[in-house]
Amino acid sequence: MEVVNVGLGERSYSIYMGKGLLPECGNRIKNIKTGKKIVVITNPAVNKLYGDTLKNSLTGAGFIVNFVEIPDGEEYKTINTAVKIYDRLIDIKMERESPLIALSGGVTGDITGFVAATYLRGVPYIQIPTTLLAQVDSSIGGKTAVNHPRGKNLIGAFYQPKAVFIDIDTLRTLPKEEILCGIAEIIKYGIIRDRDFFEYLEDNIKKLINLNEDILIHSIKRSCEIKADVVSKDERETDLRAILNFGHTIGHAIESLTNYKKYRHGEAVAIGMVYAARLSLESGFCSNKDYDRVVNLINAAGLPTAISGLNTNAVIDSLYLDKKVKEEKIRFILMNGIGSTEIYSDISHELIRKVLSH
Ligand SMILES: NC(=O)c1ccc[n+]([C@@H]2O[C@H](COP(=O)([O-])OP(=O)(O)OC[C@H]3O[C@@H](n4cnc5c(N)ncnc54)[C@H](O)[C@@H]3O)[C@@H](O)[C@H]2O)c1
Repeated sequence: MEVVNVGLGERSYSIYMGKGLLPECGNRIKNIKTGKKIVVITNPAVNKLYGDTLKNSLTGAGFIVNFVEIPDGEEYKTINTAVKIYDRLIDIKMERESPLIALSGGVTGDITGFVAATYLRGVPYIQIPTTLLAQVDSSIGGKTAVNHPRGKNLIGAFYQPKAVFIDIDTLRTLPKEEILCGIAEIIKYGIIRDRDFFEYLEDNIKKLINLNEDILIHSIKRSCEIKADVVSKDERETDLRAILNFGHTIGHAIESLTNYKKYRHGEAVAIGMVYAARLSLESGFCSNKDYDRVVNLINAAGLPTAISGLNTNAVIDSLYLDKKVKEEKIRFILMNGIGSTEIYSDISHELIRKVLSH
């Protein structure tokens, strides 16, 4: 088992990762000082696959366990779903010390974190991410949220989990397209922070797609280390943490303009990363060679690298709705060559248009 620590003073926690962690996580959770009652929040599909294993592990460790199912899908990451969870927590008489566990992908993780941040003004929660995207990204760092009809993740809180358990065995049942979405985020970490890791991914991308265990563990661990390092330096995204949004600014606009239906989050991020790399190239921040390497790796991973027929004005309008807009200026994360980034607010609409229609 590998462990990565997220250093945040008294809110620090560990990310445990490896094979076979789910059946044995009950005893580890017992070591985190919490109440005896636990509520697991999950969806029907994941509950069917892994609910019993988790339940046995928790009851074996002496916990009293209840499961709350929420419907599967981004369209249910809403305040209405949160209210239904509050209702159940009140029925079950969950108390301040009673932890919630999120078992599934980022949708469940984000909403569970949001409910944990707000129910009784804050109860502990634990992340057990079962998608690759959630394992390398959404389960770490304490960004919790629900969507608003006018924008993604507009309602939320920064609220850190008590622990994260990543069992790579759960990825065996994850559809290939979902694996690729996680790989998009893994590639992002190489681009923004670690040139050697990017090279490692270039050498091993096929094995990673095929879930080679050594490559998978190394890639998840390195991604978690990079995210943990950035989050511990800038928990509330006053500055540095924004680099984690590389590719997300345009990615979010693409998701929103296609009504969250055409592309999965990771696919939209993959396209967004290509546009961000192109903006970096056109602004003189990176070489043609580095730009090509980014496009080639995303392509080799089987992820989309372009979108046709985008209404560029609508994209620009949508960019202004992003939470990262500061003083009416869109902040772009550009790459300073592979492995390093720059936060930049002075990109002209003309250049954005040029890059979007490339
Ligand atoms: N909080 C953050 O920092 C952060 C970061 C990135 C993304 N996000 C959010 O994460 C969400 C996307 O998360 P996601 O990509 O995990 O999507 P998801 O939670 O919708 O999961 C994708 C699908 O995989 C299924 N699934 C989950 N685990 C499975 C398994 N082991 N086997 C088979 N099927 C399984 C789910 O039921 C679902 O249908 C978005 O809402 C996004 O905004 C949050």
